[in-house]
Amino acid sequence: MQKLIIQGGLPLHGEVSISGAKNAALPLLCAALLTGESLTINNVPALQDITTMLSLLKQMGTRVTEHGNGEIVLSAAALTHLVAPYEMVKTMRAAILVLGPLLARAGEAEISLPGGCAIGLRPVDQHIKGLQAMGAEIAIRHGYIHAVAKKLHGARIVFDIVTVTGTENLMMAATLAEGTTILENAAREPEIIDLAHCLSAMGAKIHGAGTDIITVEGVSSLHGAEHTVMPDRIETGTFLVAATAAGGEIHLKNTDAHLLDAVLDKLTEAGARIDSAANWINLTMQTKPKAVNIRTAPYPAFPTDMQAQFMSLNCIADGTAIMTETIFENRLMHVQELKRMNANIEVEGNAAIVTGITQLDSANVMATDLRASASLVIAGLVAQGETVIDRIYHLDRGYENIEGKLSALGAQIRRIQ
Ligand code: EPU
Repeated sequence: MQKLIIQGGLPLHGEVSISGAKNAALPLLCAALLTGESLTINNVPALQDITTMLSLLKQMGTRVTEHGNGEIVLSAAALTHLVAPYEMVKTMRAAILVLGPLLARAGEAEISLPGGCAIGLRPVDQHIKGLQAMGAEIAIRHGYIHAVAKKLHGARIVFDIVTVTGTENLMMAATLAEGTTILENAAREPEIIDLAHCLSAMGAKIHGAGTDIITVEGVSSLHGAEHTVMPDRIETGTFLVAATAAGGEIHLKNTDAHLLDAVLDKLTEAGARIDSAANWINLTMQTKPKAVNIRTAPYPAFPTDMQAQFMSLNCIADGTAIMTETIFENRLMHVQELKRMNANIEVEGNAAIVTGITQLDSANVMATDLRASASLVIAGLVAQGETVIDRIYHLDRGYENIEGKLSALGAQIRRIQ
């Protein structure tokens, strides 16, 4: 198993190019199932989750041509196998995103029910409830969701809880349904707007993406299109937190500051100076960071996917911070690993109380999920001595060449077998 070795204590200086967003690219690739024509997606990041999704789409009969430089052409002219097997869904829950498109275009789908996940229970009841309201017949048999619908019809669906992939799944399904679908209490994440732009370029009629009411007027068919994936706001935020914790000055290009207002506010509160323009962000940090309270919530509030990284920052900040996780039930697993690096953290229910110390101590630590891994990388960058991070396959699911990008900023980080 591969590991990362980090020699901590160096400030970060230099420029990094931000990749396309994983959580935008995954649903965009699934949108290819909605048409028999070719869909070209640019700026697709080279990540393990993308490889898994492409394998799944190929297995279903989609022709996939990778042109390098993140350009992928997908053609789902003939769907031959409408199944997402357990082996794939268990490694990547986003596979549930094929359910809506398959049902809308092919009238049938068999998707393994995702089990619990390291960060929480993560049920998919809202996806199922919405598709049932649109006329799908759904049964759970032998761990699989069996869904059938001769023709989906429009419906008014009020989500009980704000769900990102649930909103994406139903938005895709509704594009080919008969009549109008109204999604209320919809997620407002920028990745949903990105997907809506692509679907609109394919001929879909969508209004309100980015607000909590999305209206989709069904059309009889969608056509091919070309779309460029938005920048990864979580990768952007991760590098910004790393530089705020380690000190220095970094320049991030191919990104967009408007995607992460809540994160930039917290970094400014921590003492960083941030400048930005249309497609870049510059961060300078010359002082010891101040502790910042965090409460995660759906967009546009502070993202759960940035909570772990800010915890590492708070571990070495001046003062005490209260960090409350409201999205997932079990997303504080990095606490135990950070404590092995001497961090002062107390957990009470879904909150962590973090009191900053002068310096973290290096240690052998273990990545438990994607963003927890990122927090350990940041902790390693600021710790005294050599930190070894095990199980970094979690990191490879969501960060493209993280050691290469951090090395370019002057960090001492390397991967070993
Ligand atoms: N939920 C339900 N029922 C459902 C769907 C969700 O109860 O049918 C609950 C979940 O258990 C959770 C909450 O609703 O407590 C929000 O979950 P959501 O459905 O929004 O999460 P997701 O769509 O499965 C996406 C991202 C996650 C990110 C969350 C929250 C993708 C592929 N994944 O997951 O990304 O944390 O939204 O913003 O878009 C990551 O990149 O590290 C990651 C985990």
